Amino acid sequence: MSKLKFSNLENRVNTMSAKWDKRKEIFNNENILPMWVADSDWQTAPAVKESLLKRAEAGIFGYSFADQSVKQAVENWLKKRFDLKIEKDWLIFDTGVVPAINFTLKAITEENDAVIIQPPVYKPFFTAVKNNDCKLIENELINKDGHYKMDLAGLESQIKESQKQGNPVKAMIFCSPHNPVGRVWDQAELLELLRLLKKEDIFLLSDEIHSDLVYPGYEHHPILKLLFKRDEFSDYRKKLITFMAASKTFNIAGLHTSYTIIESKELRAAYNQAKEGFGTGNSPFGLLALKSAYNNGEEWLQKQLEYLEGNYNYLREYLAAEIPQIKLTQAEGTYLVWLDFSQLGFGSDEQLIEFMNQKAEVGLNPGRWFGDAGSMYMRLNLACPRKRLKEGLTRIKNAVKKEL
Ligand SMILES: Cc1ncc(COP(=O)(O)O)c(C=O)c1O
Repeated sequence: MSKLKFSNLENRVNTMSAKWDKRKEIFNNENILPMWVADSDWQTAPAVKESLLKRAEAGIFGYSFADQSVKQAVENWLKKRFDLKIEKDWLIFDTGVVPAINFTLKAITEENDAVIIQPPVYKPFFTAVKNNDCKLIENELINKDGHYKMDLAGLESQIKESQKQGNPVKAMIFCSPHNPVGRVWDQAELLELLRLLKKEDIFLLSDEIHSDLVYPGYEHHPILKLLFKRDEFSDYRKKLITFMAASKTFNIAGLHTSYTIIESKELRAAYNQAKEGFGTGNSPFGLLALKSAYNNGEEWLQKQLEYLEGNYNYLREYLAAEIPQIKLTQAEGTYLVWLDFSQLGFGSDEQLIEFMNQKAEVGLNPGRWFGDAGSMYMRLNLACPRKRLKEGLTRIKNAVKKEL
């Protein structure tokens, strides 16, 4: 394999990059070092790039669909990475996990149905519930000394309460691994959750977009696999919808391709119907990138994971030594880290954000973007060359020293 270049300082300015070219618009500061939105600052796997170059050379970019070869690549990947056996018919290709979650709610809910999410969590989950005129129930995660757990007892009471009020919970949108808190849920807690949802007959929308980005010592458990392996869930499988993509894993999010796995034929039909008329066809580049990533990108992914782990360790040591007031939530997966700034003494989130944007000049996602539970937190994306990470941390350290 040719030399991998995770440490290259690639230029992303003037490339229509949402991360780099909207700094003035988003942070009101052109000098921001952007460490926010979830894409990576390095080139995708060489195999992906080569396949796209070849396709570009052909010069025809008409309407496209996921053929058997794309489905085979997905089937093989899930088997190889997670020992998860799916059938090709269960796959539906989409332009992204976010639209797919919206279509799913459109397919399964009616106005005012209750839907549960677990904040702090990816903001488009909130929006999807709102878009579909559903009632949002927030089952906040529990933060114990920087380690997050699900509040399953609270969840059970919220479900019971919704039944009492005559508006029983219809669905839950679940994030696994979790953005932003970085949890890779363990099997015992997942089973406990699944037993509860099964008992109450609640649809589970499982967003597993970050499933390939897991640090050593942790294992991603696809919900579908957990259900398959146990007879007790054989009837519940028809309530599961899984969302995955190669977009985070291989830095191809701009190609807008994801896939949704639905085993139940009826649910798949309802889902496809919900999509009708929304122009949801896939781009040939997105499909090809997914296929070549899964067929030929595993070695690159391994190297990327090693680089990310190095970045994570660097960040942890840097914070402990240089800015100990900023508390790191231990990341088990994803390249996103969840930082607690509450000890810096700001009076409000707005002050913290202003400090970060105008004094430190580092572009992070404000914690409140993930719900009120994210107050005084910010999310940092460490999928960048270590030099850039160091630059970002140095900017924060200097601003803390100078201004606080
Ligand atoms: C949990 C989660 N779901 C979905 C997405 C976005 O998915 P897509 O770009 O496929 O719509 C992200 C991106 O950061 C994410 O973190």
